[in-house]
Amino acid sequence: MTDTASRPRGPYGMEYVRLEVPDLQASREFYEYHVGLEPVDVEDGRVTLRTGISHHVVELISAPEREAAFVSAIGFSVESPEVLADLARRVDAAGLERFDIDKNVAALCTDGFAVNDPNGLTIELIYEFQEFAEPPQLLLRPLDIVHPFISTDKYEESLQFYMGVLGFLASDYIGDMSAFLRSEDRYHHSFAVRRDTKFYVAHICFRMQSLDHVFRGRARARYKGVRIASDIVNHSASTSIAFYMQDEKHGPRVELCDGHRVLTEEEHEHTHRARRMSVDPRNIDVWRAAADDWKDF
Ligand SMILES: [Fe+2]
Repeated sequence: MTDTASRPRGPYGMEYVRLEVPDLQASREFYEYHVGLEPVDVEDGRVTLRTGISHHVVELISAPEREAAFVSAIGFSVESPEVLADLARRVDAAGLERFDIDKNVAALCTDGFAVNDPNGLTIELIYEFQEFAEPPQLLLRPLDIVHPFISTDKYEESLQFYMGVLGFLASDYIGDMSAFLRSEDRYHHSFAVRRDTKFYVAHICFRMQSLDHVFRGRARARYKGVRIASDIVNHSASTSIAFYMQDEKHGPRVELCDGHRVLTEEEHEHTHRARRMSVDPRNIDVWRAAADDWKDF
């Protein structure tokens, strides 16, 4: 149970991922064809791509010295200047350093700051991210970017940062191995954390318009020979059906999903209780056949 009046408010929702990529043009084509994004800024060494009305959901930075893509920041919107100021106070109180958001994004919002999580992942919190009057006129495009999922050897510290400092709320747990955290947009999770032996961003999730579009994305991946790292799954946590594709040159795994649960306001504020599900593959993908069916997660 939470109390709207007294609980600290968290970020609103995920806005973008910033990726340093070895081949900018190839990555641009990957996100256009395989995810359904539309380029916005096409500059020397930098491309942004959008879906929905937000200015962009993916920012690509040319980094030819890299062999694999690197996540350099994740951006979350914040719903008001008051919440942004409160987040800044909480970050300061936790003894964490606040620093400037990237200058390109600073030009696209009215306020914001950045902070590093315990893994060194930069989180940018921004207010009034610029938007477009209309979404792109593309038939096959996501409705939204929904969450990052991180693997970390600092699981407890990460939960303390995201929940204790930033104010994300727990939606579900898998034992003491994974936590699904929601923010004020009420998606079942707009952040997820998994215990692991090292840190990496495991995937970025996009919500498609229908199950049909998820399968069309899967068909495109198969056609172009992009590795399907985890095939069609039915998630117990978010009730979404999804698949994951991966090309390390372009970023973490990309999850294309349909049916991602959004809690009601009543559930979000008062009635939702985070489940503590056992560590069993069927508690992650309810279509798994047996307790030892851990293949391809
Ligand atoms: Fe996910």
